[in-house]
Amino acid sequence: MSDLKKIKEEFLLKLKKKLNLSEINQIKSDLFGKNGQVSSQFKKIGTLAESERKKFASDLNIIKDELQSLINSKMDEIQSAEINEKLEKEKIDITLPERPFVKGKIHPVSQTIDEISSIFSEIGFSVEEGPDVENEYNNFTALNTPDNHPARDMHDTFYLDEKKEKLLRTHTSPVQIRTMLKSKPPFKIIAPGRTYRSDSDQTHSPMFHQVEGLYIDKDINMGHLKGCLNYFIKEFFEVDKIKMRFRPSHFPFTEPSAEVDIGYKIKDGRIIIGEGDKWLEILGCGMVHPNVLKNVKVNPSKFQGYAFGIGIDRLAMLKYGINDLRSFFDCDYRWLNHYGFDPLDVPTNYRGLSR
Ligand code: DAH
Repeated sequence: MSDLKKIKEEFLLKLKKKLNLSEINQIKSDLFGKNGQVSSQFKKIGTLAESERKKFASDLNIIKDELQSLINSKMDEIQSAEINEKLEKEKIDITLPERPFVKGKIHPVSQTIDEISSIFSEIGFSVEEGPDVENEYNNFTALNTPDNHPARDMHDTFYLDEKKEKLLRTHTSPVQIRTMLKSKPPFKIIAPGRTYRSDSDQTHSPMFHQVEGLYIDKDINMGHLKGCLNYFIKEFFEVDKIKMRFRPSHFPFTEPSAEVDIGYKIKDGRIIIGEGDKWLEILGCGMVHPNVLKNVKVNPSKFQGYAFGIGIDRLAMLKYGINDLRSFFDCDYRWLNHYGFDPLDVPTNYRGLSR
């Protein structure tokens, strides 16, 4: 039997066995690999006498094509058998009952942030964001709080490096700086987000939330600030009348500065906002200090305006009757189930914020 015939017979015999993909690949390389049986036959052509060469080459090519096409169809056959086997194994029984549907809830802090954003967007404020990891300059220096200023100590800052250049922002006020540095006045923004101070008890958590407000334009004054905050508090607590007072205070980045208290009373063990003779501090505010404007290349003789910083968690506690701030961050599903909000019930000013 000629070599070619022998190669073919042997091959056909192997093909009859049950093969997997790697076995057929092995057969392929035994035939057509660098030193494979068929490849070696091609090398032989040059050594043959001229009279035999043509016929041998033609026979060899025929056999080569034949074997190759047999290998290809065998491979297709194996592949589709493997796919079928897999499909068979991974069959899903769609008649099985599904798991009970667990509905998630929106955290009261997220809900409160959405409510605040909705209220301020109604009167033309847009929402800005800044990073939790801030640099010392944006958090303090640019906000007119130079080195050794006592306000720095009051912030119980978490520094992230020995040189005290990076820190976890202690308030959302650095977003004022970021916003003013990246464009030109007027600015009318709020910036809600996480803030950090090394402090923890029933009313303080090392991570808490604030919302910053900033309105810079020509001729903005303290009256505008008062009107804006009055509107906000009434909308937020969903009341028609609110008792509110501005108490003189000090912040390095505002002049004059004030803290705002709202009136409340306790009736039948429940807190009623907007009336009564008790006062509760809820935010800090003031007219932006000219030094802050200079630091962000805004001309204070042309532009001025107000800023405020509100503690979000505190507002949420008041509005939703939650008395321990730490429970916000316990990640207790039962708590969230009780105090959380329906995810599809997005707060809007028209429909009612929290119902
Ligand atoms: N950043 C201040 C704080 O965390 C709050 C604050 C007060 C923000 C006055 C302001 C402001 O924008 O004008 O205590």
